[in-house]
Amino acid sequence: MDRWRRAAAQRRKLAARRLGAGGGRAGRPDALPAEDGDGPAGDRTVTDGAAPGPQPPHSAMEQPIVFFGPGPSKIPDQVLERVQAELLNYAGTGVSVMEISHRSAEFQQIISGTETRLRRLLHIPDNYRVLFVQGGATGQFAAVPLNLCVNGKADYFITGTWSKKAAAEAARYLDMQPVLPATEKFLGIAGRDQWRLRPDADYVYYCDNETVEGVEFQEVPDTGDVPLVADMSSNILTRPIDVSKFGVIFAGAQKNMGPAGLTIVIVREDLLGRGLPVCPSVLSYSTMAKAGSLYNTPPCFNVYVTGKVLDWVEEQGGVEEMSKRSDTKAKLIYTAADQSDGFYVAPVDGAARSRTTVQLRISAGAELEKKFLKEAEEVGFKSLKGHRSVGGLRVALFNALTVPQIEKLVKFLGQFATQNRG
Ligand SMILES: Cc1ncc(COP(=O)(O)O)c(C=O)c1O
Repeated sequence: MDRWRRAAAQRRKLAARRLGAGGGRAGRPDALPAEDGDGPAGDRTVTDGAAPGPQPPHSAMEQPIVFFGPGPSKIPDQVLERVQAELLNYAGTGVSVMEISHRSAEFQQIISGTETRLRRLLHIPDNYRVLFVQGGATGQFAAVPLNLCVNGKADYFITGTWSKKAAAEAARYLDMQPVLPATEKFLGIAGRDQWRLRPDADYVYYCDNETVEGVEFQEVPDTGDVPLVADMSSNILTRPIDVSKFGVIFAGAQKNMGPAGLTIVIVREDLLGRGLPVCPSVLSYSTMAKAGSLYNTPPCFNVYVTGKVLDWVEEQGGVEEMSKRSDTKAKLIYTAADQSDGFYVAPVDGAARSRTTVQLRISAGAELEKKFLKEAEEVGFKSLKGHRSVGGLRVALFNALTVPQIEKLVKFLGQFATQNRG
């Protein structure tokens, strides 16, 4: 047996031993009921006080958890199970998918498969390129002006934390003009009659869903012939989109697509080849497009996991089904707040309420919010704390969260209100 085969056999043996011994981490998928769309809730189980590293097997202390992490976020358990099953030996290669070369035939298949699924799910037209890049969505705050600057001006909808940050970054490279009147609190989107758009801007930028404030555009803003750029980090794959309306769409993977570390850019081909000469090669859309996203080493493992998440989305019924579930989940939460006689408040204007990151307040104040978070955690609702800049509660309803899980949360909201009403 040559060295390669011997190593592969050893790895297989090791994998079998680990899996056979229940060696998956407690609270991880090998200990779980399968999550089946909107069927029985696929709550993950954890052992109380579980520390990272090898965990003891199931115990009576286990409780179901529902994880509302706003990014990184829950990845469907079925996906994690599949990743776990082939982690030590990818497709009979004897090496882990984390170890194979990004220039190998196997990885080529992974990256093109991931792209194909994304194209299918979002109906991406042929004249758009899909790029797999690093640097996070924050990297795109610089990449967008660096790639699209021609006349040196761009218009920005500033509707919350992330578009504000993107606008500040763009202002380093070009003349950035806000589209909307300035505001301190981001609780809605000013009407069209208040928009300032320049016909000779290089592009118009907006954030489709502001993750922190929970402000979401309900319609794609009409910018005429000026290319539209959208940050869809926190709502991509949660509703159908007409890609042909956009010049560039980008999204960090860590909310609805996979692990943090991968950013996906969808760019219209005619926008390639422009921009500022100082644009770093690693941020350049043309360079990345020419190299098939392999200009440098891509985040291979993340591309692989994202491919698996996209598989899962297809199996569940695609973006159309995700959209229905998102609407249902959001409606459950907003209705609970609106019908709580003012105990809970959803402060965002009804016309801009996010379907994926719901901002909630307890009107009696921060002390009660603290108590809520503590009690929620005790019964397994994890990570409901609002972003530190706005406080309160945030319910991140990304695709991996099921309707039954949200129904459970709504029940808890009701019980807490009953017990704590002044
Ligand atoms: C809408 C939006 N844009 C941009 C970012 C920044 O992403 P990253 O941390 O990947 O740079 C986030 C992060 O949560 C986000 O929610």
